[in-house]
Amino acid sequence: MASLLSSNSPALSHYEINPSSRFEATTLEIEETCSAPKPKGTKGGETSGSWNNNEREEMGMCLTWKDVWVTASVGKNEMSKSILEGLTGYAKPGQLLAIMGPSGCGKSALLDTLAGRLGSNTRQTGEILINGRKQALAYGTSAYVTQDDTLLTTLTVGEAVHYSAQLQLPDTMSKEEKKERADFTIREMGLQDAINTRIGGWGVKGISGGQKRRVSICIEILTRPGLLFLDEPTSGLDSAASYYVMKRIATLDKKDDVHRTVIASIHQPSSEVFQLFDNLCLLSSGRTVYFGPASAAKEFFASNDFPCPPLMNPSDHLLKTINKDFDQDTELNLQGTETIPTEEAIRILVNSYKSSEMNQEVQKQVAILTEKSTSSTNKRRHAGFLNQCFALTKRSCVNMYRDLGYYWFRLAIYIALAISLATIFCDLGSSYRSIQERGSFLMFVSSFMTFMTIGGFPSFVEDMKSRCLNEKD
Ligand SMILES: Nc1ncnc2c1ncn2[C@@H]1O[C@H](COP(=O)(O)OP(=O)(O)OP(=O)(O)O)[C@@H](O)[C@H]1O
Ligand SMILES: [Mg+2]
Repeated sequence: MASLLSSNSPALSHYEINPSSRFEATTLEIEETCSAPKPKGTKGGETSGSWNNNEREEMGMCLTWKDVWVTASVGKNEMSKSILEGLTGYAKPGQLLAIMGPSGCGKSALLDTLAGRLGSNTRQTGEILINGRKQALAYGTSAYVTQDDTLLTTLTVGEAVHYSAQLQLPDTMSKEEKKERADFTIREMGLQDAINTRIGGWGVKGISGGQKRRVSICIEILTRPGLLFLDEPTSGLDSAASYYVMKRIATLDKKDDVHRTVIASIHQPSSEVFQLFDNLCLLSSGRTVYFGPASAAKEFFASNDFPCPPLMNPSDHLLKTINKDFDQDTELNLQGTETIPTEEAIRILVNSYKSSEMNQEVQKQVAILTEKSTSSTNKRRHAGFLNQCFALTKRSCVNMYRDLGYYWFRLAIYIALAISLATIFCDLGSSYRSIQERGSFLMFVSSFMTFMTIGGFPSFVEDMKSRCLNEKD
């Protein structure tokens, strides 16, 4: 069992599900199995790449969504606001699907919908299937890197990833194997130089924003999930770092043999990063402007009279064409005439996509992937209760010890208070009057201790937040 999680194993990520529950969301217990065959020519951790496309699809997790609508109730009157409008698409194992669009177009909402993490004030309709079945995502099979980093600021990069490995990986792996996995993941994300640097946060400078993003990715990919959701993995990174991070994410399966399905929302990819995408989902105000091969997006825009100017990054052109937030700034196009309003451009593109062959092809693919329901399983476990208790206690102690406000500052207050109380209440004597004074002394100490306990709450909440978001499910 442990061998499955070693870097040499072709771990699969399937859900075991009762066929009768095909259209009922179920939370499934996950255990590890070693049923995956190795590809021909696989030696140790290296693969010869001899999996063919069909085998890859059979082994990994195919995600399909059809006519997905999401609305949210907002304001005091609970007005209904449309967030996603009839989206259809798919994501296949071994492929990277990029979700792009202007800010507020619904990228995170789509990721949340697919990962089943929508807020309670939202309503969702449509069909989302994993390997042709409707089922809840369970522990170890998927990971979600959120747009905001939730990390314990007092820990170093190495500690954060190592503690997470202790918590997330099963007891069947030895401590050394867990450490090895954590170190390998840290190296994968290019964080080896920052391994002993504190993460830092409010008021304490630590690693940079881009490094924090990479730590968050590290923590999520530790379990080698088959389905990886990344919300803005490259925000805060320069173009070179973005390229390396995305390239490593896109090629992770070559190193660990997990035929991952990766869905990432991304803001501003460079042309090199853009070339790494297999498929592109371009959104505008919750509607699909384009879904298909990333390499064909430029031609799609050109065929609708929105050609990409020479030497311009295609992703910049796509985003500029559909960003209506600054519509009053009309510009001249290539021919020197005024460009059409963005709202109109979006309408043209959305309608053109709806009637395009590309859309038909997507519908066809979704139908094929929906029919092809697979039954192979891969169950996973996290660390046992005692190991989790031990790791969490150790992590909390390190956190408290390093948090100046939480531990040391309060210790100083307690010492100061002890000295002042000792001087005020010294020599009370043993008369009847001293009973009353002893009573007030005890009351003062107990009420003060209670208030000081509340002072430690913010740090505890931080710890809980990090635990709940990082080791979700
Ligand atoms: N739970 C919710 N309740 C109300 N409105 C919501 C909710 N979730 C999302 N929205 C709205 O839906 C729209 C899309 O939000 P989303 O966070 O998906 O945008 P985004 O494309 O990820 O933007 P950014 O690139 O800035 O992260 C926004 O206008 C947002 O206010
Ligand atoms: Mg977002």
